[in-house]
Amino acid sequence: MGSKNKLRRFRENETFTNVFQPTRDELVKSDFDLKGNWRIKVFKNNNPLVLELGCGKGEYSVALAQKYPNKNFIGIDIKGARFWRGAKTAIEENIANVAFLRTQIELIDHAFAENEVDEIWITFPDPQIKYKRTKHRMTNAEFLKRYKQILKPEGVVNLKTDSEFMHGYTLGLLHGAGHEVIYANHNVYKQEGSPEEVTSIQTFYESQYLEQNKPITYIRFKIK
Ligand SMILES: C[S@@+](CC[C@H](N)C(=O)[O-])C[C@H]1O[C@@H](n2cnc3c(N)ncnc32)[C@H](O)[C@@H]1O
Repeated sequence: MGSKNKLRRFRENETFTNVFQPTRDELVKSDFDLKGNWRIKVFKNNNPLVLELGCGKGEYSVALAQKYPNKNFIGIDIKGARFWRGAKTAIEENIANVAFLRTQIELIDHAFAENEVDEIWITFPDPQIKYKRTKHRMTNAEFLKRYKQILKPEGVVNLKTDSEFMHGYTLGLLHGAGHEVIYANHNVYKQEGSPEEVTSIQTFYESQYLEQNKPITYIRFKIK
């Protein structure tokens, strides 16, 4: 994407009522005013809250919001020019139960309060295979700790990925640490049994992997 186009999207994001872009200091140094208040202040209801981490263009957030009008969805990504797409679609199509938050997932426990979140989707995260990048892998023990902090005790995490490495790594870590694997599938379009929304919604990255005939995997789990 050209830099002019990006700038235009950044400017437009600032005018969108469904986009939130706190600075690092606003999250870390002060009490972020939406922390613990997303339902009341943003969605104006008391419905369950679902996050999509590394949402890219926000396909899951938007499609799930349409499918489940009685739940609230927040797509989170550091790249505002990407989620501009989802935010714009939500505005154009009057989908009021979805919003977008620009932040690093590393700061998620500063953006949401304990027990505020009902469910998390992690869609096609970078597997961060190189040793030096392990700390950025979105299902490592540190990230799971952050998710646990904001999830309700019964809250679940969904991981959809094309990366066999990420799938195997996450399953191994979950089993090793005694977390609860509710369901796992290593090829969702070939092996039946996945929840409907796993096979009915495709993200931007996913459609590219599907063209390359890569198997798409899925895990649903609870953090103990
Ligand atoms: C491979 S893309 C997948 C995007 C989208 N979910 C999809 O399937 O099309 C990974 C996304 O995660 C975002 N991301 C990676 N690490 C992140 C982090 N630590 N905090 C916030 N976003 C992150 C990137 O900006 C990118 O949009």
